Amino acid sequence: MEGSFFEGKDFAKGEFKALIPKYYPQKYKKYIQEETKFLRQKIRGQNRVLEAGVGIGRLIPVLAPLIKEFVGIDKAKLMVKKSKEVAKKYQNVRIVEGKLEKLNKIFSKDYFDFSLCVWNTLGNVQNEVGILKKISGVTKKSIFVTVYKKGTIKKRKEWYEKVGVSIRRIDTKKEIFYSKSGLKSKSYNLKDLRIIAKKSGLKIKQSKVLGGVILLVELIK
Ligand SMILES: C[S@@+](CC[C@H](N)C(=O)[O-])C[C@H]1O[C@@H](n2cnc3c(N)ncnc32)[C@H](O)[C@@H]1O
Repeated sequence: MEGSFFEGKDFAKGEFKALIPKYYPQKYKKYIQEETKFLRQKIRGQNRVLEAGVGIGRLIPVLAPLIKEFVGIDKAKLMVKKSKEVAKKYQNVRIVEGKLEKLNKIFSKDYFDFSLCVWNTLGNVQNEVGILKKISGVTKKSIFVTVYKKGTIKKRKEWYEKVGVSIRRIDTKKEIFYSKSGLKSKSYNLKDLRIIAKKSGLKIKQSKVLGGVILLVELIK
């Protein structure tokens, strides 16, 4: 669904600002700070953690030193290249080029203690239930998901403009953004996530609002 967005179309002349918090408006900076603090507390001391949709490897320096093995998977060649550059500095990080749809072919059942599907990666995929089922299949304990919270459309528009994403269309009723480069980015409320979790055979253990703009849920089997 994301066309050439994660291959860098909007950022051809420089950094991939969409995944670099120093370029964000205040509320999104706060989201990142709160998410980082939360994840550090949760995953410290675990054996294996998967980041589903690892992007440029933003979380590698934050989380890899706290655990035994960090695996990031992504299907975009640019994201794999960038996250591999970050991963070079860590002996316990592995980056895999691949699709979340194929997770069960790459890793054995319950290989990971925890999985992360953060910064609205779930809102970028075509079939959230199908993806959550795949992540669940390779995860023993919890899956941490963060998505755009419904009701924050004005703030989201400001975020896209600030980081330099060219918007093609906004579905204001469903709160879905479409970029010129082919990104489709959805948003959710807790009820939406409860329905998606249930269809995926999962339950919401806890939920939180981060920075006033992002919804976090911990999913368990
Ligand atoms: C919004 S970014 C989040 C990146 C990173 N998790 C972060 O927090 O900075 C979503 C990432 O998921 C990847 N992605 C989306 N759908 C995917 C799929 N079906 N299989 C593998 N990677 C996917 C994209 O290429 C992109 O790098």
